[in-house]
Amino acid sequence: MGNLSLTKKTVKDIDVKNKRVIVRVDFNVPLDDRGHITDDYRIKKAIPTIKYLLEHNAKVILCSHLGRPEGKIDKKFSLDPVAERLGRLLGKEVRFAQDCIGEEALQASAEIKSGEILLLENLRFHAEEENNDPAFAQSLAKLADIYVDDAFGVIHREHASLVGITKFLPSVAGLLVEHEINTITEVMENPKRPLMAVIGGAKIGDKIEILNRLIDIADFVAIGGAM
Ligand code: 3PG
Repeated sequence: MGNLSLTKKTVKDIDVKNKRVIVRVDFNVPLDDRGHITDDYRIKKAIPTIKYLLEHNAKVILCSHLGRPEGKIDKKFSLDPVAERLGRLLGKEVRFAQDCIGEEALQASAEIKSGEILLLENLRFHAEEENNDPAFAQSLAKLADIYVDDAFGVIHREHASLVGITKFLPSVAGLLVEHEINTITEVMENPKRPLMAVIGGAKIGDKIEILNRLIDIADFVAIGGAM
C-alpha cells in the first residue's frame, strides 16, 4: 500500500478493555415491503471493528441511522431487524434499546458487560441528529467512554453522531474507515494504471463532485445504476 495511509488514530491505538465504546456504523440497509433486509453487505462490513472490540473486552454500543425518517419515530425504519441479523452473523446476542438516548439507553449502556453488544434505535428518529445538535451529541456521549467512527458510507454528513459527539469523547476511527481511506488515498494519489472508475448507485447530487475529480484522475470512467 505504499506509504500513504490514514494519519488518524484507530481502535488499535487505544486501550478499550472494559471501556464502553460507542461505534457509529452505517447500517442503512435496504428493506423490502415487509421490512426484511434484502442486502446485509453493510452489516458485514462493520464486523471486523465489532470483533476487534469484543476480542479486546470492550463493551460495544452500536448506533446508526436507517433511511430518512425526518426526525420522527417511524417503525418502518427501526433497526430492530438489524440487531437480529447482526446477532445471527456474529453467533452472539445483540441487545437492542428502543431509543438511542434517554433513560432506557442509559440503563442499557450501564448494564452491558465487557464482550457484550448493544444496538441503539435509529438516530434519525431525533431531528437533532441531522441538525448536529450539541445537547443531543452530549446525550449520546454520556452512554460511553470512547467514540469510534466506522460509518464510512455516511462520513460526509455533519451530524451529531459523526461530528458533534467528538467534542465530548476521545474519538478514533474504526477498521472499515481506516481501510476505505487508505484505499481511496492510494487510488487518488498513486494509482496503478490504467485506472478505471466505476460509479453507480443513486444520490447523484452527492456524487457529482467526486465524479469531477475522478474524470481528471482516471483513464476511463464508467457510469451505471441510477447515475
Ligand atoms: C447512504 O446510504 O448513502 C448513507 O447511509 C447515507 O445516507 P443519507 O444519504 O440518507 O445520509
